Amino acid sequence: MTLAVHNLEVVYEDVILALRGASLSVPRDTIVAVLGANGAGKTTLLRAMTGLLDVHRGKITRGHVSLDGATLDTRKAAGVVKSGVSQVMEGRRVFTEFTVEENLRVGAHTTSARDLTEKYDRIYGMFPILAERKNAIAGYLSGGEQQMLAIGRAMMAEPNYLLLDEPSLGLAPKIVEQIRDLIVSINAGGTGILLIEQNAAMALSIADHGYVMENGLTVMDAPAETLRSDSDIQEFYLGGTGEERASLRDVKHYKRRKRWLS
Ligand SMILES: Nc1ncnc2c1ncn2[C@@H]1O[C@H](COP(=O)(O)OP(=O)(O)OP(=O)(O)O)[C@@H](O)[C@H]1O
Ligand SMILES: [Mg+2]
Repeated sequence: MTLAVHNLEVVYEDVILALRGASLSVPRDTIVAVLGANGAGKTTLLRAMTGLLDVHRGKITRGHVSLDGATLDTRKAAGVVKSGVSQVMEGRRVFTEFTVEENLRVGAHTTSARDLTEKYDRIYGMFPILAERKNAIAGYLSGGEQQMLAIGRAMMAEPNYLLLDEPSLGLAPKIVEQIRDLIVSINAGGTGILLIEQNAAMALSIADHGYVMENGLTVMDAPAETLRSDSDIQEFYLGGTGEERASLRDVKHYKRRKRWLS
């Protein structure tokens, strides 16, 4: 089973070219990382894969998304989830006024109470912290707990693939480790993972394969092990401060600026 993107071009508001030919594939038994600086097109890629471009006035103008060879990009967001592809959006979008359990309920498709109880229990088994806080208002959870809730909600649909957009953003190193371990165990349970991350060290420590995006293109693609030892990747993504990286669009700019500074 494979979830794949073929030579995808995406335009927002008919004028802004955000993807210019991105391709990747996620075999079901793997963790695939997508690295890239701010504005590279990572979130756009995820929106295109989950039927969410409409909401952002974007559309696919070339290429397609496929699931086991069948076209996926003609389906709406709910249809994509039904096909077994769930996602955790950038910035852990939980319903802040709802309780933890109410948030999980939103992620479930079933209406039978017995099914629901089983599903909650499965999630609480994976995320003991959510079990402890199941009646708490989600808005009062810590950042890390909210991220776990966002992942738990996506897992309520029992997806074959889980797509995560920067799950470690803004979290303390210890919490990032917990999230990382969770992703590994979700994958071990049979869910393919697409992990978008600017935290390359974290992503490459667990990924099987990685892609690098620059300016709307997938420009590099290699086993995670190869990327970990690649000198450009090390310099740009694994060294320097996050702030430095955020102000630069890609490795090329980074190198040019370095030359200029020296
Ligand atoms: N709704 C939108 N309307 C118009 N342009 C958009 C929209 N969303 C994104 N873009 C533009 O598309 C390009 C890619 O943005 P995208 O959010 O996909 O990048 P990203 O790699 O996820 O960046 P970040 O690391 O900051 O999250 C950027 O130039 C951005 O300004
Ligand atoms: Mg993004």
